[in-house]
Amino acid sequence: MSEAAPFDRGGRTSRPGPPERASRETDGGPLRGASRKPRPDGGGPVRLPRHLAIIMDGNGRWARARHLPRAEGHRAGATAARECVRACAETGIEYLTLFAFSSENWARPTDEVEQLLTLFGQVLARESDELTENGLSLRFIGDRSAFPPGLRETMDHIEGRTAENRGLKLVIAANYGGHWDILNAARRAARAVEQGEMRADDVDRAALESGLALSGLPSPDLLVRTGGEQRISNFLLWNLAYTELYFVRTLWPDFDRAALADAIREFRDRERRFGRTSEQVALASADVAGAR
Ligand code: FPP
Repeated sequence: MSEAAPFDRGGRTSRPGPPERASRETDGGPLRGASRKPRPDGGGPVRLPRHLAIIMDGNGRWARARHLPRAEGHRAGATAARECVRACAETGIEYLTLFAFSSENWARPTDEVEQLLTLFGQVLARESDELTENGLSLRFIGDRSAFPPGLRETMDHIEGRTAENRGLKLVIAANYGGHWDILNAARRAARAVEQGEMRADDVDRAALESGLALSGLPSPDLLVRTGGEQRISNFLLWNLAYTELYFVRTLWPDFDRAALADAIREFRDRERRFGRTSEQVALASADVAGAR
């Protein structure tokens, strides 16, 4: 995970080290595609989020503004998702996590839920070859047991087919909820204690994180939410602890490469302190630059 652990396995306070590399430096990116303006500081590498997470909101409003059924908004949203995946892969972002269907979305009208699940299956089937050929790997997080068997098979198949790929790691959250995720991890740890594999006091951050859906992946560096709402909506509750949040009014189907570039630019200008002071951050950056 991205941040230095505040506690060691024995539960004692340990001096936090510099945060694990949470974002990467690059000379390219959507900044390359969307703007060739020089950096205001005169150049140098551009800091990219290593892991970008997105709450794709606003499909329904996009459709309503055009007097279209909501399903058309979701279809346009799927096209925007496809373009976003491509842009992230070209930019060099390593991990992209998209919130496609939340555990709360079952509360929507039955026909909309069915349309969303059908669209989800169609998109996966349609994109499977391109994702595989372009070296992307796909992983789903969420409780897939509630999905129809055909959709589960498609999900399993595409995960297996892309497992060895080394390009962009695309994570799709489907029937995902942050509470569900943390509960799962807590139950897993409780079972390990019950079976005598560990002591309750040994359940530390690393032990709990190993049971989370994003286990093995760095925490998101940047969370983008489109559609104007400013909330997390039960997404990646644990993993977003130190994530930079970016809320934008743009409705998801309109979120294009230029909008992605804006988000990345804003991220680049944020100071990530991970609990430290600005002076400490500046010193650590100078150390890294000196070691290059
Ligand atoms: C929120 O918009 C969007 C969703 C609940 C579904 C997201 C799904 C897609 C973008 C299409 C499929 C994606 C993939 C990755 C296969 P909303 O309906 O809540 O919009 P509103 O707030 O304007 O009503």
